[in-house]
Amino acid sequence: MLSADVVVIGTGIAGCSAALAAAERGASVALLTRSSRPEESNTLYAQGGIVYTGPEDSPSLLTRDIISASAGTGSGQAARMLAEEGPGLVRELLIERLGVPFDRDPRTGELDLTREGAHSVRRVAHHRDYTGRVIERALVRTVLAEPSIQVLSGTDALELLVVEGRCAGVRALRGGREIVIGASATVLATGGLAALYEHTTNPPLATGDGIALALEAGASVGDLHYVQFHPTTLYVPGGDRFLISESLRGEGAVLRDSEGREFVRHPLGSLAPRDVLAREIWEMMRRTGESCAYLDVSHRPAGWLEERFPTIYERCRAAGIEVPVEPIPVVPAAHYSCGGVDTNVWGRTSLPGLWAAGEVARTGLHGANRLASTSLLEGLVFGWRAGLDATRRPQSPPASESLQGRERQTVNGHKPDRGELSAAWARLRRLMWERAGLARSGEGLRAGLAELDGIGAALDGEGGYEALRLRRALAVARSLLRSALADARSRGCHYRVDCEEAVLADISR
Ligand code: SIN
Repeated sequence: MLSADVVVIGTGIAGCSAALAAAERGASVALLTRSSRPEESNTLYAQGGIVYTGPEDSPSLLTRDIISASAGTGSGQAARMLAEEGPGLVRELLIERLGVPFDRDPRTGELDLTREGAHSVRRVAHHRDYTGRVIERALVRTVLAEPSIQVLSGTDALELLVVEGRCAGVRALRGGREIVIGASATVLATGGLAALYEHTTNPPLATGDGIALALEAGASVGDLHYVQFHPTTLYVPGGDRFLISESLRGEGAVLRDSEGREFVRHPLGSLAPRDVLAREIWEMMRRTGESCAYLDVSHRPAGWLEERFPTIYERCRAAGIEVPVEPIPVVPAAHYSCGGVDTNVWGRTSLPGLWAAGEVARTGLHGANRLASTSLLEGLVFGWRAGLDATRRPQSPPASESLQGRERQTVNGHKPDRGELSAAWARLRRLMWERAGLARSGEGLRAGLAELDGIGAALDGEGGYEALRLRRALAVARSLLRSALADARSRGCHYRVDCEEAVLADISR
């Protein structure tokens, strides 16, 4: 059995931030990631940037924008905390200590801040269109160099160990063997669930495993049905939904229909909050029978696009789209989970000994819809807070006898046929898109729950790691659909077609 003061599950910005904060407090940390490359996380793929602070900005203005984008449902306390602590942490940790190379104005040397939807001012720091990559690489370099942090790559958490009502560490799979890591504090930083959907911006492993672990351990989970759909992802028939960053709209790109008309009715136009915009695109497609909207980037020359948005430029060119002469065909796709494991502003969950931070957590910050580019900042701030709090009143580590024999050989047992498994995943993802996507109804959600039961029944008696992963995904999907069914109010990214009135009011905010 291994042991550490703090075990952190997940190596994205929230996990690395928690690990660094705990290590700074003198704790020994085991930092787990199931990937063989520690930087492989949702953070790595973030394009637009991280909220910092602009010249005409203030914590109260940022707080106001967060709450307004959330359709008035976000937590004022969490938003204020993010707005007050976030910019300082970006400066001290990311810029000064880690040396993250955010883009600067070559003339003044000042940070080149961009704007995104529903932000009142320019305040988003970025590195071209691959901000997540430079932040994640700097974080991983730092945790790997920190002597009190042991990074365990290729280690997948299978179960949170609960001893006498307290989380006492984790049972994990490493190199085909089960291991137990005992810890006085466990921090979940496993990211989101948007890859449960057929169309998503997320990497395939983002299927809500952390939420499943928390549910199994008995921790409280909330607002899972608040799934944010990013309005603009590349539409290539049969292709993956590649993210077309909101910062492109922040730099002047405009949404149009196939006739070249601006169709968004919101006063902020192409910079309206994401939930509003995703719905406007969906409605336009429904009205016109078109299969996508178009992002007009013709206001900028090719050279500028290639320099400022190299990833998007290349991807479009590879798909045969001659930007900026041709517009980019775009559709919404599942992007971010605003709900998750319930925590307070220190990341404490309802289960003693367990903290959660980043996308897996629900501090209440985003309410029913997240403000653009707050996700990296949320991971940084609340990951840091969770790391500090996890070392605040250290409990004695669990006695090794209490954890002995916790290896359960989950990976053994009859393994289902690979073809059947991948068909079951495809069914799950399709039903999530159709039943719990941009537009939902009570009838559709009930049908979705019955379909989930059908997929689950086919897994009866099956064992092995892949069956366990699918079972977890089904458990998360079930909670999400139940929560959507229980909420008959259309708010933010939860749109019930059987509650139309609330949505129409929402469009004008
Ligand atoms: C984007 O670049 O549009 C995504 C950033 C975010 O989700 O906040």
